[in-house]
Amino acid sequence: MVFKERQPRDKGVITDDRLMELHLYPGNQCNRDCSFCTVFGSPKGWYSEYTVEHLDTALRTVMLNEQGTIKFYGGEPTLDSENVIWAIAYLRQQGYQGAIVIYSNGIQAERLLHILESDPLGQTTASLNYSIATGDGAPQMPKKALEQLEGYETEHAGAIAIGHPDVVDSGRGVDPFTGEATRPKANSRCPHCYPVLTTEGKFHACPFAIENRSPHFQLGDIHSDPSEIAQNFREFFHWLDTVHEPYAIAHNLPACTVCWKHLDQLPVPQGFAEARAQQDG
Ligand SMILES: C[S@@+](CC[C@H](N)C(=O)[O-])C[C@H]1O[C@@H](n2cnc3c(N)ncnc32)[C@H](O)[C@@H]1O
Ligand code: SF4
Ligand code: SF4
Repeated sequence: MVFKERQPRDKGVITDDRLMELHLYPGNQCNRDCSFCTVFGSPKGWYSEYTVEHLDTALRTVMLNEQGTIKFYGGEPTLDSENVIWAIAYLRQQGYQGAIVIYSNGIQAERLLHILESDPLGQTTASLNYSIATGDGAPQMPKKALEQLEGYETEHAGAIAIGHPDVVDSGRGVDPFTGEATRPKANSRCPHCYPVLTTEGKFHACPFAIENRSPHFQLGDIHSDPSEIAQNFREFFHWLDTVHEPYAIAHNLPACTVCWKHLDQLPVPQGFAEARAQQDG
């Protein structure tokens, strides 16, 4: 396989209230329904397209220079590739100079390549679902699609990466994989991902737990000041390190299992509660 894994970047970097990375999420509608899927992707999933209001909010929140990265995921971004192509064009028109990454299962290879080719700055790359690219853990994508994507990567080295094989205990991933002997040992430490802006207009603290509506993840919405989003995200990381991880270690649980099954035992991050009390009062 010609695809390489992307190198991880620094976690939690915020400069002048702008995040180094932001995920964009338009729902969990997908042309697959992987047994491990953290977002419960399926053809019956929800979908709502990107709009100017949504992208303007992203542009207020993420670093606009070459350091920034905006990651489109879902669900499957190629199902409405026209909207993604429009969104990339809009971000560029508004002066966004950072990288763009499209998380895709690659089944609609032609559409994925159109998306990559549409970026006037040539800074849009793809990251493929490990299981669907390799056939390890899910039915493999059609041979023709795989050949097309491999051919493109061979000619444009670095344009298409492959995701990590590890599956976290999140979403549908919780049950089918728990207890399998081949899986790595329970890791009580959260990977500390960058947050998500959904097309419903909400900032959510975790791309893996995006369909988990618990208040612990709610960082704000499109009307929130960027400084409030940045501060709540810092609070969330502090909560991960001081509340979540000690609980996971004490109970010998994988980090994501705590988020899916035990949050009723944990207080919401401190600053969120104070902000809500002020709003209510
Ligand atoms: C939710 S999918 C959405 C984009 C696209 N449909 C795809 O599969 O790449 C984004 C990434 O999350 C990964 N993923 C899904 N469920 C996971 C889990 N339980 N643990 C770790 N990664 C997971 C997928 O393999 C994929 O690389
Ligand atoms: S992992 Fe990706 S391809 Fe699989 S169901 Fe989830 S969203 Fe769809
Ligand atoms: S531990 Fe919680 S916050 Fe961290 S990746 Fe897992 S579900 Fe997300």
